[in-house]
Amino acid sequence: MFLSRIANRGTSAIKKYVPGKSIKEAQAELGITEMIKLASNENAFGASPNSIRAIQEMADQIHVYPDSQSREIRSCLAEQLGVQLGEITTGNGADGVIYNLGMAVIDQGDEIIFPRITFPIYETISRVMRGVPVYSEMRDLRIDLADIREKISDRTKVVFLCNPNNPTGDALPPEEVKAFLKSVPEQVLVVLDEAYIDFTSSQAKLDSVGVFRGGMSNLFILRSFSKIYGLAGLRFGYGIGDLDLVSLINLIKPPFDVSILAERAAIDALRDQDFVHKTVEGCFEEKRFFYRQLDALGLDYIRSHTNFILIDTGRDAQEVFQALLRQGVIVRAATLYSLPTHIRVTIGQRAENERFFEALRAVL
Ligand SMILES: Cc1ncc(COP(=O)(O)O)c(C=O)c1O
Repeated sequence: MFLSRIANRGTSAIKKYVPGKSIKEAQAELGITEMIKLASNENAFGASPNSIRAIQEMADQIHVYPDSQSREIRSCLAEQLGVQLGEITTGNGADGVIYNLGMAVIDQGDEIIFPRITFPIYETISRVMRGVPVYSEMRDLRIDLADIREKISDRTKVVFLCNPNNPTGDALPPEEVKAFLKSVPEQVLVVLDEAYIDFTSSQAKLDSVGVFRGGMSNLFILRSFSKIYGLAGLRFGYGIGDLDLVSLINLIKPPFDVSILAERAAIDALRDQDFVHKTVEGCFEEKRFFYRQLDALGLDYIRSHTNFILIDTGRDAQEVFQALLRQGVIVRAATLYSLPTHIRVTIGQRAENERFFEALRAVL
């Protein structure tokens, strides 16, 4: 009674986001000590030693508020990307940036388009802001840009496009994305979520920042430091967008949502491109290992442009998930994404991947 009186009505249809189970939770549930987690697309190689050292050295400064404008990391990013400082907004992970952006632009009744199978946070913030979700149907589990284009109406405010897409791992051909972006009316904002873009091969990678710099001011590019830089636990993400839009977001966002440790670690992570290369190369090699094993098992999967793979087990995904858990391996059942037989598995290091396949063979 009390809750129904006070709750924001936009929250009523929100599906609960179920994060990957943590090792601690699984250990407590099952009493298995040797667990591995391949469920949240974290960086299998950890984080850059530069970042780790930098935050250790800052431990005596945690009583001080961070720079509310994160100027230092923003200027490093602006220089690296060739955009203006005022075109970059930062947040508590890319999730934080999605929330800040949603609060800044979504009004009651605005239509917000996203693919049927994609990262669920777009829908959450859209509903909280009383926007109207409009689903674009997938075509063979791929995002259908023509369908999205057709769904754009006079009421459309935002299109969320996750490329590469989570949970499918698929990347859209760059030329198709470019043509799509060109076709979107100027008054519609396209949010291009590139959380996994660094894992994408160069042939499949769109120069999105180039498109933005080329004058597409209704494009907002979203990036995360949780994946390629391995800073998921610290929380840092950023967005690149039009100067006025970024000013508006900065006007309403929590002023200290990027901690001093997150900003420092991000700056030092950017300077360690060797770690980035090590992660990309390691992940490519392990993906090939996955493909060989999956082919041998005769399982269907989508070739991935990310650090995870969506696998069709051909069986009830929840049961496979539970059975793998009992073998000490945490993955993600894709039932959350309405895929009843798929699991999403993060690419780990070789020993973890071998353990996963040992467990999967036993389970199947
Ligand atoms: C597509 C996509 N966008 C955004 C995020 C959020 O990333 P962050 O950890 O920076 O909040 C994730 C996290 O898994 C993601 O998969």
